[in-house]
Amino acid sequence: MDIKSAEFIISNSEVYKCPKHNLPEYAFIGRSNVGKSSLINMLTERKDLAKTSSKPGKTLLINHFLINKNWFLVDLPGYGYAKVSKSDLVKLDKIIKGYVMNRDSLTNLFVLVDARLEPQAIDLEFFEFLGVNGVPFSIIFTKADKLSNAKLHANVTAYREKLFEQWEELPPIFISSAETKMGREDILNYIESINESVSAKGDE
Ligand code: GTP
Ligand code: MG
Repeated sequence: MDIKSAEFIISNSEVYKCPKHNLPEYAFIGRSNVGKSSLINMLTERKDLAKTSSKPGKTLLINHFLINKNWFLVDLPGYGYAKVSKSDLVKLDKIIKGYVMNRDSLTNLFVLVDARLEPQAIDLEFFEFLGVNGVPFSIIFTKADKLSNAKLHANVTAYREKLFEQWEELPPIFISSAETKMGREDILNYIESINESVSAKGDE
């Protein structure tokens, strides 16, 4: 899929203030600093569309981007950043869970995990939360450029095995790098195929 246009629309602190529309919406979530905003820039090939930072805790609001005038990408704040105050953690948790649980337009949630790390309890618990609440999600490994091919595949295999302890079937899994654009086509093709099936349903 070609990205012909990518426009920032609005930032919000609460789900009920988010844009009202009938278009498919794909959101990016994961631990703070995992690379959500960088991945949005990589997918859209826009350097500064989503704000990134080497310091965790950069994205603190729900950010809507309209792509090709017919679907949305959403950049969310990260979870699990230890250095914010307790009250800010509670606030962020409310923003994230408020969005994930109440956003009717949410077509698919991409949960990002750092390809270098072994499965983290906070991510496994988040998958569990999504499962319990019936939120459709996929997994994207990030920062693949920081590992050798052999280590990358060993980590992904180990991760899948860990998930199989919790799940009978695994969601779609992608491997990405914002540096090398690895995974870009696969992720965009996946979004395109969902967009097509959503619009076919709308035609029925
Ligand atoms: P918060 O908004 O704070 O939750 O973080 P985020 O998940 O949006 O992460 P962000 O995209 O801001 O990236 C965090 C840091 O990781 C930045 O320094 C990025 O340059 C770096 N980074 C992100 N993706 C990649 C990647 O694929 N490869 C490499 N080498 N660095 C990456
Ligand atoms: Mg961010």
